[in-house]
Amino acid sequence: MNVLVTGGCGFIGSNLVKYLRRQRPQWKLVNVDKLTYAGNLENLTDLEGDKQHVFVKGDVGNREHMEHVMRQHGIEAVMHLAAESHVDRSILGPEEFTVTNVLGTQVLLDASRATGVKRFLMVSTDEVYGSLGPTGAFTEESPLQPSSPYSASKTAADLMALAYAHTFGLDVVVTRCSNNYGPYQFPEKLIPLMVVNCLHDKPLPVYGDGAQIRDWLHVEDHCSALLLALERGKKGQTYNIGGGAERKNLEIVKGILKRTGKPETLIKYVQDRPGHDRRYAIDPTKTKRELGWAPAHTFEQGLDETVKWYVDNRTWWERVTSGAYRQYFDTQYKQRLSNAA
Ligand code: NAD
Ligand code: DAU
Repeated sequence: MNVLVTGGCGFIGSNLVKYLRRQRPQWKLVNVDKLTYAGNLENLTDLEGDKQHVFVKGDVGNREHMEHVMRQHGIEAVMHLAAESHVDRSILGPEEFTVTNVLGTQVLLDASRATGVKRFLMVSTDEVYGSLGPTGAFTEESPLQPSSPYSASKTAADLMALAYAHTFGLDVVVTRCSNNYGPYQFPEKLIPLMVVNCLHDKPLPVYGDGAQIRDWLHVEDHCSALLLALERGKKGQTYNIGGGAERKNLEIVKGILKRTGKPETLIKYVQDRPGHDRRYAIDPTKTKRELGWAPAHTFEQGLDETVKWYVDNRTWWERVTSGAYRQYFDTQYKQRLSNAA
């Protein structure tokens, strides 16, 4: 099968491309990525010289180019991951999120229709459901109540994909998953940022009281669910993916300090994220029952391995956080720390 993966140079995308090469070696994978600050070819050095993986630098919002790539490679299925993915950035500048996540998805859906793509997997997020109180978990039937510009843009894209199934009969499947962690995650998200700061002996900025809860999922468990959703998902259906590992942010930060042998005095409570969602928890019953999926990683072991990966791969994270990104990040980071809670 010829599969187009969008955003295949980002965190989840690069793990997915490598996972698919191992699991479905006969497939040809065409990886379209714009190579924003979050997309790095360094994430795919393992695949150098692999003829079943074709990298195309491109923007999912460029209809002509997307149609050309789909026809040229006889694309049968699309796995759409390309997105602006960081909530904090969407608060600083929502426009790019609308352009890439909403318009980009709609253009890619059109290109898929025009070229006869047989299946379109839309990688969405649990953030479409908004925030939970202290109990309960999101099911696929939970109301959609996104809070941030990021999650609103993902909700629009998620619903647009479902509308293309409903209105045009495009074979769309949507997945909504919780917070991923693992190797190659850009060090702007909680876990890699805290590890990298620990390794630099820099303060760890904890938003608000640090009691917000996320439901953590190892990126490889996400990849296995995405492959099952592509192959076994039913047209027009949505599937929740979650690791069943709810943790408070502060527990995560303390776990990373312990694993890196650094003192808790590095923790710095800073002003909370505006509109911060308090708790996410996923009920993945439908995905387990209908797709036969089960996560293979426990959180504690996954975190051990992830921290070790960042310790062992300093060159990778030093390289991807250099240049223009460094400048942006240093300004934001200093600003956050100056807003101590
Ligand atoms: P990421 O930011 O690490 O990677 C995004 C990739 O998309 C990058 O390689 C970037 O270059 C590429 N990209 C951005 N704009 C593009 C455009 N216009 N055209 C082509 N490529 C473009 O993101 P991630 O964490 O790997 O997330 C991947 C997907 O999974 C996103 O759709 C995100 O919303 C979703 N998701 C992520 C998580 C998570 O915890 N990371 C959880 C649920 C869902
Ligand atoms: O739930 C799925 C979502 O998870 C994905 O759709 C997003 O693409 C992904 O970025 C992630 O969103 P979050 O906002 O939950 O991830 P982030 O790593 O930015 O933050 C996790 C929690 O940690 C959140 O409660 C905010 C907090 N945090 C984050 C950073 C970067 C801090 O306390 N300090 C920080 O410096």
